[in-house]
This record gives sequence, structure tokens and C-alpha cells, in this order.
Amino acid sequence: MSKQGLAAGSSTTAKDMIATKVLKKSFRTSEGVVNAVNGIDLVLERGVVAAIIGPSGSGKSTLLNLLGTLDTPSDGEIYIDGIKFHNLSEGEATRYRRKSIGFIFQSYNLMPNLSALENVELPMEYTGVKKKERQARAIECLRLAELPEKRYGHRPAQLSGGEQQRVAVARALVNDPFLILADEPTGSLDSATGKQILELLGKLAHKERKTVIIVTHDHEIAARADVVLKLKDGMMEEIKYKK
Ligand SMILES: Nc1ncnc2c1ncn2[C@@H]1O[C@H](COP(=O)(O)OP(=O)(O)OP(=O)(O)O)[C@@H](O)[C@H]1O
Ligand SMILES: [Mg+2]
Repeated sequence: MSKQGLAAGSSTTAKDMIATKVLKKSFRTSEGVVNAVNGIDLVLERGVVAAIIGPSGSGKSTLLNLLGTLDTPSDGEIYIDGIKFHNLSEGEATRYRRKSIGFIFQSYNLMPNLSALENVELPMEYTGVKKKERQARAIECLRLAELPEKRYGHRPAQLSGGEQQRVAVARALVNDPFLILADEPTGSLDSATGKQILELLGKLAHKERKTVIIVTHDHEIAARADVVLKLKDGMMEEIKYKK
């Protein structure tokens, strides 16, 4: 895959990319300042799967939260699809986040009292899409996430872990985001089911041209990504591209 994952030397403000420049996040604690993310430069093209690996405390979740605008950087820059994400107002950040970024969590975070279909419809309720359209889009996304149709009316407790994660993947897709961020998405699944979810995310990246960034401790999962970003002490220790 030579340079598919990296646009060497190109402008980091370009469209169709996600980029960071000397990105930093520090936390003040009673024991002093922790530099959780300490100067990360990153350029990823649209349509790749990137895995973030590294020891516990190396800054993986902090980096993901910054990319997801769930947290604001102490310094540095973030560009997603040509938009500066590092100095948006909170209102703008929320609007762009809903439109541009889909999140997938280890614990699925589904609403227990809603069906699979209703869970996927939920993010569209904030964007003013009409009920009929919401339902049609939710079905489209559940198909992309390959959840069997007979499960659409089931509540999370009636679904297996892998099926619940498929619902979460469908939910992350409804607003047609540029970027999908996943923190340990296979952490609660057995390895065969975890691989299926990863295959699904790979398909979405390559066919639907989503950039997928996955934090994982699982080296088998990381080995299947297009790009592996290895963090150490808040810094990029190594970037590996799949051949
Ligand atoms: N809100 C916070 N306040 C203070 N320190 C924090 C905060 N969030 C993270 N840290 C510190 O920043 C460093 C990086 O944390 P982070 O959660 O990003 O690590 P991680 O690589 O995701 O680890 P793990 O694999 O255990 O999930 C750690 O030293 C952590 O203690
Ligand atoms: Mg973490």
C-alpha cells in the first residue's frame, strides 16, 4: 500500500485528510504536569484504517479524544477534511463533530430500552431529519454494518456482543461522517468476532472512504490495519505502513 496512508510533504490543511501538527495535551495534577500527548504530527488520507498502539498511559485515548474534539488541545493543530478543528467554538465543534465524526466504544454504549433500529435512528434526532427518512437511513446503515434484518427490532440485551457492536457501527455511520474513531472496539469480544468487526471497519474505510482510527492492545488487530501508529510517552515512536 506504498503511500496510501501518508501524503508525504503535502499541505496538512488539504481536504480529504486528517492531520495534526505538533499536537499537545497536558494535564495539571497534584504531582505536577502530565504531558499526555506531547507533539504528535500525523497525516492520514481518507479511506485508511489506522491502529494506535502503545503501552498503558502512552496517550492513546487522549489522542483519540483530541481527534474527536471531545477534548481541546493545549497546543498544536488538528485538521479534518480541510476544517481547522483546534480553534472552533464549542458550538461549532459540536456541530462539526455530529456531522464529521462517528464514535465506537468498547462497551457499545447503546440505549437499553431502544431497539437496534431506534438506537441507530437516535443521532439523527438532533439533526432535524424527518422520521421516515431517519428510518430509511438507519436501515441503510444497519445493512452496511451487516446486522441480520431479523434483529432490527431487538433490544441490546437480546443481541450478542458482536451484534451490539454492529449496531454501534451503524449508529456511527448515520450522519455520513468523514472519520470513525474507535477506542478498543473489539475489547469486549472474542477474537473471531473481533476480527469480523475489524473486517467490517476495513470494508467501510475502503469502500465508503471513511478514515477509521482504532485504539487497540491487540497486535493481531493492529497487524490488519493499513497504518500502525505506535505511541510512547505521548510521542510517536514509530509509524508502520502495510506493504
Ligand atoms: N484527565 C486527566 N487528568 C490527568 N491526567 C490524565 C488525564 N487523562 C489522562 N491522563 C494521563 O495522561 C497519560 C495518558 O493517558 P491515556 O488515557 O491517554 O493513556 P492510554 O494510552 O489510553 O492508556 P490505556 O492503554 O491504559 O488506556 C496517563 O499518564 C494518564 O494518567
Ligand atoms: Mg486508553
